[in-house]
Amino acid sequence: MGHSTKKKQIIIAMTGASGAAYGLRLIQKLLSKDICLHILLSDAARIVLKQECDVLLPESAKETAIALAQHLECSSENIRCYDKYDWFSPAASGSSNIQQMVVIPCSMGTLAGIANGMSDQLIERAADVMIKERKQLILMPRETPLSAIHLEHMLKLSRLGVDIIPAMPGFYHRPESISELIDFMVSRILDHLHVDNTEAKRWGE
Ligand SMILES: Cc1cc2nc3c(=O)[nH]c(=O)nc-3n(C[C@H](O)[C@H](O)[C@H](O)COP(=O)(O)O)c2cc1C
Repeated sequence: MGHSTKKKQIIIAMTGASGAAYGLRLIQKLLSKDICLHILLSDAARIVLKQECDVLLPESAKETAIALAQHLECSSENIRCYDKYDWFSPAASGSSNIQQMVVIPCSMGTLAGIANGMSDQLIERAADVMIKERKQLILMPRETPLSAIHLEHMLKLSRLGVDIIPAMPGFYHRPESISELIDFMVSRILDHLHVDNTEAKRWGE
């Protein structure tokens, strides 16, 4: 059964860059706003989720949705997960009415795949669809230092209208915890998704 067409739908892809907690927090925030999420996880994302967040996810897409919801203490009603070769996912087609996609965190491998139109797995295909349909694609790349290859890929995508929002939290709010740093970045993504985010701390307010 598909998501209700009346609700806002967003694709959230998590890949194997460091910063899995950013993706988890974004998913939690969007679910709290009753948004339907199509969640795509690369194999490396699963490894990083276990390494950084102690989240061990089952293989099957259906069970992954339930396990994610349990971890985030949310209902799984608005979550759909898909296997990496599920070409029947709405995320794989330009005809879907999904208007926005976020890759959070985005590895340099997935960045390269997207920048070069390599659509052999669902995440890259979904991103390719967002670009060709001129819908909104947001990437949160994470690597340091960045090589000229990484920078060229980001420049190319930025020129195509992709939002590049690197995992670079600011410190002007004087964060006292890791969760404040995570929320800083997630807040920037929510703003770019035009999702209600009134709880965010803002400069000058
Ligand atoms: C714990 C851990 C942290 C990693 N951190 C990064 C990172 O910050 N940035 C990055 O580009 N790759 C990172 N990698 C390497 C990627 O996971 C690897 O290149 C992988 O092939 C990416 O695959 P994907 O793009 O399909 O997720 C990390 C790997 C592990 C296990």
